[in-house]
Amino acid sequence: MHNPSSPYVPSRPLSLLVLGGTRFVGRTLVEAALAGGHRVTLFNRGRTAPALFPDAAGVETVLGDRTADLSALDGRRWDAVVDVAGYEPEVVRRSVAALAGRVGRYVFVSSLSVLADQATVQDESGELLDLDGELAPHQLYGARKAACERIVLDACGERACVVRPGMIVGPYDPTDRFPYWPRRFQRGGRVLLPGAPEDAAQFVDVRDLAGWILGCVERQRAGVYHVTGRTLPFGEFFAACREVVNPAAEPVWVGGELLLRAGVDPWMGVPMWIAGPECAAINRVDVSRALAAGLTYRPLAETIADTLAWDNARGGPAAGTEGLTAEAERRLLDELT
Ligand SMILES: NC(=O)c1ccc[n+]([C@@H]2O[C@H](COP(=O)([O-])OP(=O)(O)OC[C@H]3O[C@@H](n4cnc5c(N)ncnc54)[C@H](OP(=O)(O)O)[C@@H]3O)[C@@H](O)[C@H]2O)c1
Repeated sequence: MHNPSSPYVPSRPLSLLVLGGTRFVGRTLVEAALAGGHRVTLFNRGRTAPALFPDAAGVETVLGDRTADLSALDGRRWDAVVDVAGYEPEVVRRSVAALAGRVGRYVFVSSLSVLADQATVQDESGELLDLDGELAPHQLYGARKAACERIVLDACGERACVVRPGMIVGPYDPTDRFPYWPRRFQRGGRVLLPGAPEDAAQFVDVRDLAGWILGCVERQRAGVYHVTGRTLPFGEFFAACREVVNPAAEPVWVGGELLLRAGVDPWMGVPMWIAGPECAAINRVDVSRALAAGLTYRPLAETIADTLAWDNARGGPAAGTEGLTAEAERRLLDELT
């Protein structure tokens, strides 16, 4: 379990239904809930990690496919359901129809990708993507999430809590966006850093997110919350990686224009690097509402060290899923510096 220093302190035991629960955010939420003494029912197909939470004190798994049939949950009640992994409006509509009357609170894990305008700083009142509007392919995910939010809010009203995380990082991260960096600094040598030190970064440790969600359930919070980290300069993030992991590593900044001209894709061409005025505010999201509702952040050094420990324990990402291969990085450094 990866919650040794969670700031979340439970005040009363809860019964929770988690739709999903075995990959990243859900898995961390379940670990935090169990550590906090709550009772947890997981609903999933038993495919992603079937043996992860053997039925034991405090946890049970009910098997089912939410796209088809939730009847295995019939006749039960919970203090709250947390829908961690809802992506399709029709699937979320089905879950809401089956569960809204049998839970105290309905928490839906959405995404900041619902925001229509990523060029200017937004709070929770920002306009959302519309599934019926004109959408670029990369906006479909956010538009679907926005439609899911609407279904939950319409059906559950004051009992609904919609959580919009930004980039989520930490142990169990299935993407190689954040884990790439501690691992890269560990390898040492010349490390290609994308963009400029003053560019903005913003992300939230999955354990801080999970603890905050549990606190919201306990305090019966309702409404919509942007839940991500504080905005920090990219340079500060890389300096922390270097300091925590390997002070001998040699940072080499390569400007965004150069990377774009070399045909490197923002987002994953070099992990976490973004470019272009249309996403100028993507790492400057207003989180004051979540902060006022108790969101706290563990030290960045802890997130870096724990992510690296987890990444090393799993032996790094599977071949072909790395954020940037050593060979591709070397080629870029040779070409551009
Ligand atoms: N990563 C980020 O940076 C980021 C940023 C913003 C928002 N988010 C949001 O955070 C959430 C992350 O989800 P996660 O993958 O970490 O959640 P998770 O709950 O840890 O894992 C996904 C779960 O869904 C279950 N599942 C998948 N299809 C299912 C089906 N048809 N019926 C029943 N269960 C099913 C999987 O189990 P089985 O396969 O065994 O069924 C698994 O337990 C998502 O909502 C995402 O949109 C992520």
